[in-house]
Amino acid sequence: MDSVHNRILAALGTKGDWVPSTRVLQELGISRMAVCKQVRRLRTMGYEIEAAPRLGYRLVARTGSAVPGEVLPRLRTKHVLRTYLYFPELDSTNEFLRKQLATLGEGTVVVAGSQTQGRGRFHREWFSPSGVNIYLSVLLKPAVSPLRVPELSLVAAAAVLRAVHAEGCSEAGVKWPNDILWRGKKLAGILCEMEAETDLVHAVIVGIGINVNMMTFPGPLKQTATSLRRALGRPVSVPALTAEILNRLDEAYGDWLRDGLGPVVAFLSQHSVLTGCEVKIALPRGEVVGRAEGITELGALRVVQADGVAQDITSGEVQLCRPVVAKSKGDSDE
Ligand code: BTN
Repeated sequence: MDSVHNRILAALGTKGDWVPSTRVLQELGISRMAVCKQVRRLRTMGYEIEAAPRLGYRLVARTGSAVPGEVLPRLRTKHVLRTYLYFPELDSTNEFLRKQLATLGEGTVVVAGSQTQGRGRFHREWFSPSGVNIYLSVLLKPAVSPLRVPELSLVAAAAVLRAVHAEGCSEAGVKWPNDILWRGKKLAGILCEMEAETDLVHAVIVGIGINVNMMTFPGPLKQTATSLRRALGRPVSVPALTAEILNRLDEAYGDWLRDGLGPVVAFLSQHSVLTGCEVKIALPRGEVVGRAEGITELGALRVVQADGVAQDITSGEVQLCRPVVAKSKGDSDE
């Protein structure tokens, strides 16, 4: 955020009291016109600022958007945050980074208030309405073999799940490889995209979408999606959760670079909603049907078929033959 914005917000304080405009002008050392202009810009970012002729200015509410001024002060990141870019609307945060891979450095984070062409795994659309959810992508440039890049999906899933637990949604779990579910419905999804040569990773884009405060879902999403607000019965701060996700991702990425996948696998196995469930996975060489066991140390899903043969699945979409919801009470739209 512009430092003038930060200084205006600092001058207005946190208590919601009226602050005479003469004091704001003095503290900032800029003209009345300039203050008016910057206050108008802050309003477009979602800050509620009242102005009255004899009283001055009053900050009624801070923004619920993940603007830099709300997110950056909450960060304690080392790896994943070199540059933070916020846009009220983008086509897709993943697409934004994909177009500028060469010029942007590792740790660039791009966040959007809404997406017009948000995309999910398997070429699906990711529903991205304005002002209620989190849509962010992080650019990573790890010096590892391209074969290890799928591990980053699991690293990101562990980070998101930890942040969701820290927000109070301790029942949330992971559906391998990286869907975050609550009571059988999807809270968050991760789309990792890679630019690489056969033996050289140029960049990995980790895209994270979290349903935060969305209360109504269109069409088929009614049956399959939910939000943290629905799970917790209260609104959740988008900027605070954005910062928590970046903090957790930073930690998980640093651990992965140093120690590999071990700690991530242990955590995800503990919170896997698939363990013990009958599952079906469509693979190019045919279908695998069986009972899901844990996640292997290489990050694969172990499935034991009816004949007792274990298959380690390294990619694909898992379909539950019996829904996860059977394990706990379901989320209903009513
Ligand atoms: C999934 O299908 O589960 C993955 C969904 C990933 C959605 C996020 S939202 C931010 C980023 N930008 C996109 O276009 N997609 C990802």
